[in-house]
Amino acid sequence: HGTSKINDQGHLEIGGVDTLELVAEYGTPLYVFDEALVRQRCREFVEAFRASGLKFQVAYASKAFCVMAMCRIVEDEGMSLDVVSDGELYTALQAGFPAERIHFHGNNKTISEMEMAIDAKIGCFVVDNFTELELLNVIAGEKRQKVNILLRITPGVEAHTHEYISTGQTDSKFGFDLGNGSAYKAIQQASALPNLDLLGIHSHIGSQIFEVEGFAMAAEKMASFAVQVRDELDVTFRVINLGGGFGIRYVSEDTPLPVAVYVKAITDAIKSNFGQNDYPLPEIWVEPGRSIVGDAGTTLYTVGSAKDIPGVRKYVAVDGGMTDNPRPALYEAVYEAGLANRAAEAPEEVVSIAGKCCESGDMLIWDVNLPKVKAGDILAVSCTGAYNYAMASNYNRIRRPGVVFVKDGESDLVVQRESFEQIVGNDVIPNRMKQVS
Ligand code: LLP
Repeated sequence: HGTSKINDQGHLEIGGVDTLELVAEYGTPLYVFDEALVRQRCREFVEAFRASGLKFQVAYASKAFCVMAMCRIVEDEGMSLDVVSDGELYTALQAGFPAERIHFHGNNKTISEMEMAIDAKIGCFVVDNFTELELLNVIAGEKRQKVNILLRITPGVEAHTHEYISTGQTDSKFGFDLGNGSAYKAIQQASALPNLDLLGIHSHIGSQIFEVEGFAMAAEKMASFAVQVRDELDVTFRVINLGGGFGIRYVSEDTPLPVAVYVKAITDAIKSNFGQNDYPLPEIWVEPGRSIVGDAGTTLYTVGSAKDIPGVRKYVAVDGGMTDNPRPALYEAVYEAGLANRAAEAPEEVVSIAGKCCESGDMLIWDVNLPKVKAGDILAVSCTGAYNYAMASNYNRIRRPGVVFVKDGESDLVVQRESFEQIVGNDVIPNRMKQVS
């Protein structure tokens, strides 16, 4: 998919670059992003919304993969950016991302995060709870600024997704519940606070969702709530944000729909629920993360040791693992892989790919069909663009890999591989331990 193909030498090529050349230049493990595919995904969202005729903002959920070069692409594609921490905000600002297109999320924004974001004059806060509502109003007042907000609503829509990553059900740490009246109370309160400008409401029903029904249902619930609030409280929403969660194809069994289908379901639901009863059509915002970067990422590893347990299983170990991709260990996420150096060869054996960390749970793929694997082969795991680098760690003091963007036959390093100096960079040896040699 994307610009990936097998070249004349039988090697995996991405963005017109032979992945073995990338390995020679940057080493392994290495995250490789197909920049053209990232941009294509951005445009699929933007064009589908444009086709709807509604006013819109597509905010890339930077939690999926937040580095400065990615922020540049998002800006270049005319999109907005969703951040959830001071670190993501800092990254965006350092990359020169326009502050007015930044939306700040999170269920426990600290005072210093709110101050930093107000000082930067970001476009909107997505307020999650009553504590934040009051605090934000106070801080905005101290800074003599009026701050745009959305209220995050928990609409009680359960999307078909992995239990650990669903956030739409009522028993959730996120948002104001629609069902028990706390959303209603939050609207009353927010619209009375002098330093906040309530633009509208937000919902996020889960992640890696394939069905359109969940989005349409959320849109309908938001709409009937909007009409109720307009009629009873005289508050009209200008913005409805339906969050992210659009599914991608990790393995061949996954069956996501084209982006345009999700967008049409959402915009149709908005059009058929607003724009009547004298309710002006709101602006519609979404926050895709995974579906922008997920399938554009490939991780390259070098194969090292193997352990064959006859009649049981063959383990093949690579030079990375849960430190660069914790998703299999955390969510039982599944991935497909191939050999980048022998991409045209037919599969010959079923092996399981182990990482190099000191724990049994450090497995990348159980049972993958590959040509006879040997030490020195380059393993390419696909669809690692989302929540891989973003969730990488230094467990076992393993250095995080570098990240490369490839496009039109060129490669650009956008994140250097971590250095040993960085590994010990924050360590401090107390004076009393220092030895005079
Ligand atoms: N908006 C909000 C409020 C969110 O909480 C999320 C994801 C998104 C947007 C973007 O969702 P996406 O389009 O990427 O599905 N670490 C997990 C995923 C956690 C998602 C959390 N929220 C994973 O690796 O699958």
